[in-house]
Amino acid sequence: MAEALENLHVAIIMDGNGRWAKKRALPRVVGHKAGGKALKKIITHAAKNHLKVLSIYAFSAENWLRPKEEVAFLMQLLDEYIIDEWASITENNIKFLVSGNISLIPEKTRDALIKLMEETKNNTGLILNMALSYSGQDEILDCVKKISTFVLNNEISIENITKETIVDNLYNKELPEVDLLIRTSGEKRISNFMLWRISYAELYFTDVLWPDFDENEFDNAIKEYKKRVRRFGKTDEQLKS
Ligand code: IPE
Ligand code: IPE
Ligand code: MG
Repeated sequence: MAEALENLHVAIIMDGNGRWAKKRALPRVVGHKAGGKALKKIITHAAKNHLKVLSIYAFSAENWLRPKEEVAFLMQLLDEYIIDEWASITENNIKFLVSGNISLIPEKTRDALIKLMEETKNNTGLILNMALSYSGQDEILDCVKKISTFVLNNEISIENITKETIVDNLYNKELPEVDLLIRTSGEKRISNFMLWRISYAELYFTDVLWPDFDENEFDNAIKEYKKRVRRFGKTDEQLKS
């Protein structure tokens, strides 16, 4: 498996925590806790198998609209997660990145996120990109604002704006295009995730609810991905020649 993963960027929309809890007549927050455990397993598995980049949708900009108690619980869970996983992330040579508007995250947690990014910035293993308070449209909007400022300051001319200029001004410009996008829980939508970088991603939907998603489910998604033919606009014949 290792060799098969080392050039891949896998993105996961971790959905279905609430329904997992509901099925068991438990509060939604119990589903989120179970989802956190599933995430730990997947990160360890991805790092062990030398995946290049794992992007995980942990909290969307739209998720701020959830009931205040649920939002508070998720922020608490995030805080505990960073503390609990700190050693494992650093010891496993993982480079930790955050994408999103973290100015909205409670200060203590935000400081920890920034510190973890700083501490792992030279790590050479798995790049773990956690999307927090993230909106793909906001990412593009922020990018347009940055480039507009460069134009206004005569640092770049409009004719010289290329796709690279855009990538350079997205969140974490080092992130490559997504190869495989996984969404759990049976929903078949993008929900504002990584809009620019999923332009040619292979999509994989599974009915498995996120807390039940394990190493085996991850490997199944990779197996399915390996069967796909990525033509990037070309014909089959062109790919063979
Ligand atoms: C995903 O599970 C976790 C977050 C969005 C934070 P949900 O909480 O969306 O679970 P469902 O969709 O209600 O089952
Ligand atoms: C998307 O899940 C966001 C995360 C997984 C963090 P949601 O459950 O919030 O998505 P929608 O709103 O149902 O599309
Ligand atoms: Mg959901």
